[in-house]
Amino acid sequence: MKIVVFTGAGVSAESGLGTFRDADGLWEKYRIEDVCTHEAWLRNPQLCVDFYNARRRDALAAQPNAAHLAIARLQQHIPGTEVITQNIDDLHERAGSTNVTHLHGEITKLRSSVNETAAIPLDGWEQHYGDRHPDGSLLRPYIVFFGEGVPYFPQACDIASHADILLVVGTSLNVYPAASLLAYAPEKAQIILVDPGMPEMGPYRDRIRHIRKPASVGVPEVVNELLAAYA
Ligand code: APR
Repeated sequence: MKIVVFTGAGVSAESGLGTFRDADGLWEKYRIEDVCTHEAWLRNPQLCVDFYNARRRDALAAQPNAAHLAIARLQQHIPGTEVITQNIDDLHERAGSTNVTHLHGEITKLRSSVNETAAIPLDGWEQHYGDRHPDGSLLRPYIVFFGEGVPYFPQACDIASHADILLVVGTSLNVYPAASLLAYAPEKAQIILVDPGMPEMGPYRDRIRHIRKPASVGVPEVVNELLAAYA
C-alpha cells in the first residue's frame, strides 16, 4: 500500500507558523514582488535575506504538532510512505519523518546563486548577506522564488504517480506546479484532504474525501484509520 502525503502551510499553522493566503496570511503583510521573486532577489537581496531570516527565526522556534507527529508515525509503520511538502520549515523532519521532498526549498539551508540544488546547512537563524558558497557565488536563501524552476517537481510527480492513497494536508492548491501533483496520482488512487477551509479542488472535487478539520485533529484520525487498515 503506497501512501503519499502532500502538505502545505496549513500543516504547520497550529505550530504557530503563518500560512500565506488565509486572512492573516504572510502575503497579506508582505508583497510577494518584494521578497519572493527572482527579480526581488536581484533588485534588493538584503530585503529578501531579512525576510527569510525572520521566517527562519520563527521556524526554529516552532515545534512539530500532532499532525507532523502522526505523519511520521505513518511513515514508521507503513514502509514506503513518502512525504512531499511545499513548506520550507523542518517540522516534518523534527517530528521524525524521513526523505521529505521539499518542493519550495528549505529554510534551514542556503544555496549557491549559480546552482539551484547546491545547498549547504545554515547554523542558527541569521544569514549574513555577502557570505559565499564554496563554489564562489553569493549565498542566497534555499527557497524557490516565484518565477524560478522547481527542481524536485519531477521527482515529486514520480512519487505521486505510484500512490494508492494521496493524503493532502493544509494547502489551498493555488500554486503551480505543486498543486498539479493531484493530476499525477493514478485514477484509482484514493485522495483524502484534511483542511478546515475550501482549497481549489477543481476537477478532483468528486474524488476527494474532504475532512474539514484542523490538521492536528484530522490527520491523527486519518492516520489511525490507515494504520488499522494497512499497518
Ligand atoms: N489545519 C489544516 N489546514 C489549515 C489550517 C489548519 N489548522 N489552517 C489553515 N489551513 C489551510 C487553509 O484552509 C488553506 O487551504 O491551509 C491552507 C493554506 O493555504 P496557503 O496559505 O495558500 O498555503 P500553501 O497552499 O501551502 O501555499 C503554497 O504558495 O506562497 C507560496 O511557496 C509558498 O509553499 C507556498 C505555496
